[in-house]
Amino acid sequence: MREHFLPFALPDTDEAEVAAVAEVIRSGWLTTGAKTRTFEAEFAKLVGAKHAIAVNSCTAAMHLALEALGVGQGDRVLTTPYTFAATGEVIRYLGADPLFVDIDPATFNIDPAQVGAALARERVAAIVPVHLGGEPCALDELRRVAGDIPIVEDAAHALPAKLGGRMIGALSRATCFSFYATKTLSTGEGGMITTDDDALAERCRIMSLHGISRDAWKRYTAEGSWQYEIIAPGFKYNLTDVAAALGLVQLGKLGAMWQRRVAIAARYDAAFAGHPELQVPARASANQHAWHLYMLRVPAGARDAFVEHLRAHNIGASVHFIPLHVHPYYRDTYRYTPNDFPIAYREFQREVSLPIYSRMTERDVDDVIAAVHAGVAKLRV
Ligand SMILES: Cc1ncc(COP(=O)(O)O)c(C=O)c1O
Repeated sequence: MREHFLPFALPDTDEAEVAAVAEVIRSGWLTTGAKTRTFEAEFAKLVGAKHAIAVNSCTAAMHLALEALGVGQGDRVLTTPYTFAATGEVIRYLGADPLFVDIDPATFNIDPAQVGAALARERVAAIVPVHLGGEPCALDELRRVAGDIPIVEDAAHALPAKLGGRMIGALSRATCFSFYATKTLSTGEGGMITTDDDALAERCRIMSLHGISRDAWKRYTAEGSWQYEIIAPGFKYNLTDVAAALGLVQLGKLGAMWQRRVAIAARYDAAFAGHPELQVPARASANQHAWHLYMLRVPAGARDAFVEHLRAHNIGASVHFIPLHVHPYYRDTYRYTPNDFPIAYREFQREVSLPIYSRMTERDVDDVIAAVHAGVAKLRV
């Protein structure tokens, strides 16, 4: 058994990030400024979007995108229960209600057929699909059933992911990314909205900094002016130049970090293929999986013991996610029972996420595989 605990996730940072952050600190400009604008420009180029607006989280990004679309009190926003807290809460921030639709058990992603059925019954203001773990949602099918309803992608897990050959980030009205510490590009905390829609981009930018009209961040620069106008009660969601400097270095390593996760996923797949008790993550061969998560499935009823077993072997594992409708807030507010979304509830009970990050050594991967093999052997006795 390994001597030291293998964390579930670690950011891949080195002296290059340290130097970039030190340069920003020495410059005297710590908050949103030129570095953030460069980060936005590079990010927009990468995903092929016209605009990229840097913010301080994916939660902020989704809040701003839905606000810019005019989602408000009494509206319904269609999304998946199989997601993190953020996807649901931003809908509630605006006074709207989530309309949950169950998932496709193969991918954990929202099921377009069920979305179509829900849309035949209910009016919704927007649709928020989530690319769970980094496997792209069936966006083309979703678009077909959605018609004119705007889609805002929760792409917190989906950098760099491709649907067919198309990069996630320029395929819907708006796409929201996360640069949280555990994500595939990390700035500690951070996020990005990408869009081709000029008006939506402008509204998000203004609302990300107090609702102050144009270039509020420039007011302390040589070109800036002390004058400003507040056009709406905005938010304080801007990204700092310290974080953007980290992000720029991380962007340069994005491909290499992704290649490493692809290799780890391939090793896990090969190692676990022979166990009928295990189900390895599904992926469509035409797509590019970002491999933010490696979502293994174990037999129902054995999951919690499996996670504990991995921990006892010094392997940090996790579970993604406890479906939103099972949590007290959603359960009590909307009177849900677990089987209102039976596939989400069933698959959650089988899910174990294994460590998959570029700083893992081959030895770390060997240790995870050995611990999983031992866990399967335990299941058999
Ligand atoms: C699916 C999903 N959406 C949104 C978020 C929120 O991201 P952030 O922490 O950048 O706000 C997360 C974070 O873990 C997530 O997993």
